[in-house]
Amino acid sequence: MSDHILEMRSITKKYPGVTALSDVSLSVREGEIHATCGENGAGKSTLLKALSGVEPVGTYEGEIRFRGAPSPSTPSTSRRNRGSSSSTRSWR
Ligand SMILES: Nc1ncnc2c1ncn2[C@@H]1O[C@H](COP(=O)(O)OP(=O)(O)O)[C@@H](O)[C@H]1O
Ligand SMILES: [Mg+2]
Repeated sequence: MSDHILEMRSITKKYPGVTALSDVSLSVREGEIHATCGENGAGKSTLLKALSGVEPVGTYEGEIRFRGAPSPSTPSTSRRNRGSSSSTRSWR
């Protein structure tokens, strides 16, 4: 059994005219800290939106499992209660 608490498998997210994420996978073990790095438009925010539920299940291809359970089709508030949320900050 995998010791990863988070598995994002083959996430592909398309907006009209643009593929924001193409076959992206990410596995995270408990206690690990990861950073997403890339130039503007690389897909960092979209990846976190899929994880947090801001982009709901069904709007992207692939699978997200958290502690073994598939991501439910629930609002992002429910995800936040499970410890998964996203916020956007701008530094000037
Ligand atoms: N709501 C949206 N509608 C259409 N295109 C979007 C939307 N959000 C992001 N994109 C496009 O998806 C790609 C990835 O964007 P994004 O995830 O915001 O990148 P990053 O956070 O790495 O700068 C970009 O080409 C961006 O223009
Ligand atoms: Mg961003």
